[in-house]
Amino acid sequence: MPNAHLHELMVDELKDIYNAERQLLAGLKKLVSTAEGEELKNAFKEHLQETEGQIDKLKQVFQLLDLPARGKKCKAMEGLLNEADEIMSEFEGSEALDAALVAAAQKVEHYEIATYGSLATYAKLMQHDDVAAIFAEILEQEKNADEKLTQVAMSKANKK
Ligand SMILES: [Fe+2]
Repeated sequence: MPNAHLHELMVDELKDIYNAERQLLAGLKKLVSTAEGEELKNAFKEHLQETEGQIDKLKQVFQLLDLPARGKKCKAMEGLLNEADEIMSEFEGSEALDAALVAAAQKVEHYEIATYGSLATYAKLMQHDDVAAIFAEILEQEKNADEKLTQVAMSKANKK
């Protein structure tokens, strides 16, 4: 694939994830206030802060690519967050509420992991090493967030 096409694809995905992260800020705030267990609440709070940092990192990427930081509506994140909303009302008052929240949040993490994995690969292929390093750093954070949610689910949410 010629570089220009791959570059275009990378920028398109970058705009998608930039918008996705911004949508997620609002989603995570809801998850923080809805989660019942202290451990899960804290995991969401931590990822909320991390997400704010990721948005800054993505702004840096736009800058490195000489582009304005502008997103493009991520319909996938919109859909995932709509489902999370649905789950929150369906499981309100249920013992399985936290387990349901973990599942919804992990779907989001997996979407992000897939996107940052592709972005890191594209950047590496085009030898945008500075940009590749930022994507790789965010990818690690998303993987850790996913792992943390699995731990909370195994130790608390699912057992309940
Ligand atoms: Fe993220």
